[in-house]
Order: sequence, then C-alpha cells, then structure tokens
Amino acid sequence: MKVLIFWDIYGRVGRNAFKKHFLSLKEKYNPDFVLVNPENISSGRGPIEKHMKELDALWGIDVYTSWNHIFDNYDDIKNYLEKPDSKLLRPANYYESEHLYIPGKGYKILEKNGLKLLVINIMSSVFMRDEVYNPFLKMDELLKTIDTSWLNGIIIDFHRETTSEIYAMGMFLDGKISFLYGTHTHIQTNDELILPQGSGLLTDVWMSGPLYSIIWADFEGIKSRFFGGILKGKIEQALDPNYVVSGCVVEIDEKTKKCLHIEKIRIKGKL
Ligand SMILES: [Fe+2]
Repeated sequence: MKVLIFWDIYGRVGRNAFKKHFLSLKEKYNPDFVLVNPENISSGRGPIEKHMKELDALWGIDVYTSWNHIFDNYDDIKNYLEKPDSKLLRPANYYESEHLYIPGKGYKILEKNGLKLLVINIMSSVFMRDEVYNPFLKMDELLKTIDTSWLNGIIIDFHRETTSEIYAMGMFLDGKISFLYGTHTHIQTNDELILPQGSGLLTDVWMSGPLYSIIWADFEGIKSRFFGGILKGKIEQALDPNYVVSGCVVEIDEKTKKCLHIEKIRIKGKL
C-alpha cells in the first residue's frame, strides 16, 4: 500500500504551488491514499471553508490532518469539520469536557479498493500554546480501544515543536503503527528511518509555501522581532512567487502493517 503525504499548504503561494504539482505527483506515485495538511492555508492561519472546498475540488485527497491552528477561524470551519463524512481531522487529544465542546474527530479509518488505513492526528503541548492531554498516553489509549486487527496500515501525524518527541513516540509505538511523521517545525528533516520493529518515522515533512520566507512570513514585516523582540506592524504572508512543495511517499506492507520504504518529496519552482 502506498500513501502520499503533503504537509502544510501555506497561504496563497502554497495553495497555487500545491495545485500546480498535485495531479502530476499523484500520477507519478499512484498512491492508494493521499493525506494533506492545510494548517495555514488561509493567509497563514487555519482554514476557512472556502479554501477547503478548493482542495476538495482537486480529485483524490482522502483525509486532511491538522494542528494547533485548526480553530483560528472557528465559526467558519466548525460546520465543515462536523459534517458526518468530514475528511478534516483535528488533534485527538484536546481536553473534552462538559465545560468545553471540541468539534470534529481526531482519527478516521479510510477504506478504498479493499485497503483500510487508520489515520490519527495527535498534538503535543511542549512549547505550544494549546493545552492537550498527554499525547503518549492518548496514543496508548487509542490503540487499545480501536480494533486495529482488520486494518492494513496505521499512520500518525504528530504535531509538535520538539524533535525528540518524534523519536520518543516512534520508540513507544514501534511495531504497533506503520508510519509516524512530525509536523509544525516547517523544515524537511533528512532522517527517514525504519525502527527495529518495522514502524517508519520522519521528524518533519516541511510545507508547500513561499520559499523565501520565515516559515511563511514576509521578512520585512517580521524582522523587528529578530532585532529587538518587538513586532512593528503586522506579520504579512510572503507573496514572492518562488515556492517549495514538499511531502513524502510511504510504502506499507498490507499484511504486517510494517513500513517498507519512505521517500521524501521536495520540489522548488516559481509561480
Ligand atoms: Fe502548527
């Protein structure tokens, strides 16, 4: 089973660059499933429904994983997130209680051509503003409560700031999942790895967005932060037409759920 993963389609440049390459990459890799993360798709903030529908119109995305910006446009995205057939996930380990309702779901089982793939979205609270339940304990709980015996693969998008948490989670879940990838640090890491019990990992997948930017922000607007810690004016998204589209392709053994191969994708170009 082959899974194609793209992470963080960032603002206007990211949307256009992703649309430019998506179909040809899909044709090239011929994946069984496609995972896309649109964390900052709407002007560098969480998605609005209009931009999600633009992605829906590109045929063939099976699930959208997510992140700490999912509720930036809460009122706009709430209904989209809650549709019964929604493809958009939010982190599974938000604190849910009678005092705080969290729309959406944190995992989904995808079924296509006889193949079944479980996708789980989890988030850390280390150096992040969001308060979430311990991601290690939540993963343990999920894998004990979801029947995984009939599945062909399990993929985890772990949204976190530190790199050590990816390795800790990988070693914690080695042999129980197919592939674990990190998101949020916005730099593609060169550490694709298959652990001893057969689970694959990649610390960060990077993004599809403006190449000459500070993650996604225009340097002029944000430079005062680097010089003196203060922000003069507003952070603007970089609109320079040079872009990067990044992701990875993962091959999974359908019988054992083990990771067989990981290939990184990194394309630079100009709109
Ligand atoms: Fe993030």
